[in-house]
Amino acid sequence: MSALFTPFTLKDVTLRNRIAVPPMCQYSATDGFTNDWHQVHYPSIARGGAGLVIVEATGVSADGRISPSCLGLWDDAHVPGLARIAAGIEAAGAVPGIQIAHAGRKASANSPWEGDDHIPESDPRAWQTIAPSAIAFGGDLGRVPREMTLADIERVKADFVAAARRALAAGFKWLELHFAHGYLAQSFFSAHSNQRQDAYGGSFDNRARFALETLAAVREVWPENLPLTARFGVIEYDGRDEETLAESIELVRRMREGGLDLLNVSVNFVIPGVQIPWGEPAFLAPIAARVSREAGLPVASSWGIDDPELAERVVAEGQMALVMMGRSMLANPHYPYTLAQQLKAARPDWVLPAPYAHWLERYRGAGKQAQVAAA
Ligand SMILES: Cc1cc2nc3c(=O)[nH]c(=O)nc-3n(C[C@H](O)[C@H](O)[C@H](O)COP(=O)(O)O)c2cc1C
Repeated sequence: MSALFTPFTLKDVTLRNRIAVPPMCQYSATDGFTNDWHQVHYPSIARGGAGLVIVEATGVSADGRISPSCLGLWDDAHVPGLARIAAGIEAAGAVPGIQIAHAGRKASANSPWEGDDHIPESDPRAWQTIAPSAIAFGGDLGRVPREMTLADIERVKADFVAAARRALAAGFKWLELHFAHGYLAQSFFSAHSNQRQDAYGGSFDNRARFALETLAAVREVWPENLPLTARFGVIEYDGRDEETLAESIELVRRMREGGLDLLNVSVNFVIPGVQIPWGEPAFLAPIAARVSREAGLPVASSWGIDDPELAERVVAEGQMALVMMGRSMLANPHYPYTLAQQLKAARPDWVLPAPYAHWLERYRGAGKQAQVAAA
């Protein structure tokens, strides 16, 4: 019996297995709208058998997009395209999720294959970035953001709420708040990027305020019976890891008390050039397990947890409820089928739709000729 292929229920939502596709920006949109690329990409990846498919970081406002080619949910006009995607994911047997985001000082960037750097201010595609303090990220994202006023903070929280309402209207059943990766909420919590003197900076309570208030405001509009989750970096790899972890776990505890149902555990990415142990397989798994244990809520995580035995083990040992698999799903959108075969865990029709599963199951081992003749 495979742990990875055991269903998972959170609130009123049941995933068919513990494999989730994490949000992955496609950098293929115009003005925040979906197009044929997204309409094909998301349902195709859902057909591969994952239990949950989370649509990429979707801007709660135009200035919250990472790049001009990111998806958006700041306008009702964005809803119909995303509704088709949510329906397509659901028709393929996966639960449709979406990540809503504000990129803060890392916004207004070129897509990765155009440089991954800030768009020059002279370029008409660029916009003014905002952040808790007027401190640049550095490296290729060196533009100094404008320090947010209290009115900006209220506006962004309201944008998260409006985007959550639209996500619900579009039919998503799982909402992930992007509080990670050095984007806006993460940069409020980190003293590296937040040097405010007001109620949103300084003490732990003050640095935690933006995330907690945003979560509370979204919880009011996101139905109680549907999972409200967040992605949050709990470790920076800046040499102060124990302190950061302890603070982060305390914030996660408060998020749980504020209505968070699951945490997608990640890395802070608030400062460039830190030594992240990329080469260590599943390096975040023990950290995710600690967050789950000490904060008292289910967790998911990613970053290189795609080897079949490893993925099976982290779930079987209870280190995480779900394994997020990103790049392996880009390489092979039917990767859950491959995993099921390797773990001898499920028949193809448990993870693939009938038009594929029929041929792979019925004629398994019979050779190509038999399959073609049967068709
Ligand atoms: C193309 C691409 C786009 C990504 N976009 C996002 C995103 O929109 N939001 C996010 O939180 N993480 C994003 N990530 C990180 C992934 O969600 C995931 O954590 C990462 O790929 C590590 O998992 P893996 O080792 O299974 O690929 C992205 C990663 C890739 C490869």
